[in-house]
Amino acid sequence: MAYTYLTPQKVLLGEGALALAQDTWKNCGRKALIITDSVMVKLGNVGKVTALLDEIGIAYEIYDGINQEPCDYMIAEGAEVYLQKHCDFLIAVGGGSPIDSMKAIGAVIVLGDSINSFMGKTIEGSLPPMCAVPTTAGTGSEATQFTIINNTEKNIKMLLKGAALLPQLAVIDPVFTMTAPPAVTAATGIDALCHAVEAYTSIKAFSMTDTMAVSAVKRIFDSLYLCYTDGGNMEARIDMAIAALEAGMAFNNSSVTIIHGMSRPIGALYHVPHGLSNAMLLEKCLEFAIEGCPERFRELAQAIGVYEPGMTDPEGAAAFVQAASKLCKSLKIQTLEEFGIDKDDFLGRIDKMAQDALDSGSPGNTRRKPDKEDIVRIYKALFD
Ligand SMILES: NC(=O)c1ccc[n+]([C@@H]2O[C@H](COP(=O)([O-])OP(=O)(O)OC[C@H]3O[C@@H](n4cnc5c(N)ncnc54)[C@H](O)[C@@H]3O)[C@@H](O)[C@H]2O)c1
Ligand SMILES: [Fe+2]
Repeated sequence: MAYTYLTPQKVLLGEGALALAQDTWKNCGRKALIITDSVMVKLGNVGKVTALLDEIGIAYEIYDGINQEPCDYMIAEGAEVYLQKHCDFLIAVGGGSPIDSMKAIGAVIVLGDSINSFMGKTIEGSLPPMCAVPTTAGTGSEATQFTIINNTEKNIKMLLKGAALLPQLAVIDPVFTMTAPPAVTAATGIDALCHAVEAYTSIKAFSMTDTMAVSAVKRIFDSLYLCYTDGGNMEARIDMAIAALEAGMAFNNSSVTIIHGMSRPIGALYHVPHGLSNAMLLEKCLEFAIEGCPERFRELAQAIGVYEPGMTDPEGAAAFVQAASKLCKSLKIQTLEEFGIDKDDFLGRIDKMAQDALDSGSPGNTRRKPDKEDIVRIYKALFD
């Protein structure tokens, strides 16, 4: 069996990484379009990037029309700004939302048409140079060939794919995640945990994704709670930034599974932040998945030190899932009910959500493959 392992062309990592980006930017073009959200502008994160661009005489425009729900019409707007202002490369500053939007804008600029027309197709072609500057330690989007965009015509979160979407440059500088508030830190950190665990237990996992996934899981158990309780802890922030990158590299090459498959429909219909809906599903989905590969879940228990000698594989696996749910509880992850979702409304939409989850293809990567009934049952159990 042979495997493919795709990564961004260059990763700059650690304190001061942003300044090192200047060398790459010089070769990217003459005018950048910076894709971001208004919070990043207010916090001064965009200013850190523009100051460095000014230093090397590269012009820029800023498109800050992205929010936590990147939608088809924002992609069209961003692409229009790029073309009208004669930009020739892209920089994203923000969490997964601006980074995903940058990739989608890159695709639309070159390939034309609405982003919705790429649903179900692989995105190919030579996109403009793209540089991702993540400000959350979560999505790993800086290292993935995926972009997730809301299709407002169909009310679904599209998972779009293509090696062409991989950024040329990923800048992982802890200066950016330091300002993330606890709720964002928690949700995005659990998103990274889901990427790593799903990548490790996916049918597509192989040696290199395993290495990245296990390393990410260990770091997240070591550092996420510290980042949550002490946002200024630089060492923990760096560890989480590395974990998110590693988890991204892992699932980029072995895919996510049941949690992400079931999470997107909740996000699309109820506007629950991505990491939070993953966290809400984590325990029930992993309990279901254990049976497909108890030994792999047991290995994760060993990696984080909750396996005890004499435990069987299923016991070790259960210990891991319990540790993961305990971590979610310590981060005060809300339930659907606490988030304000009406039970009857939710139950009434389960059939569509289950179908959308299956159609995304992600649940099919789980080693215990769920059918529609399994997915319906897990959705219902979220209100037990
Ligand atoms: N492409 C991929 O491989 C991939 C993987 C997982 C998730 N995603 C997608 O990523 C999106 C979610 O991204 P996200 O979880 O990073 O959140 P986000 O980008 O939506 O940001 C969440 C909120 O946190 C704020 N924020 C971000 N960084 C901050 C900082 N350093 N300080 C203060 N506030 C900050 C943002 O302004 C925003 O209000 C979803 O659309 C999801 O579907 C993509
Ligand atoms: Fe995710």
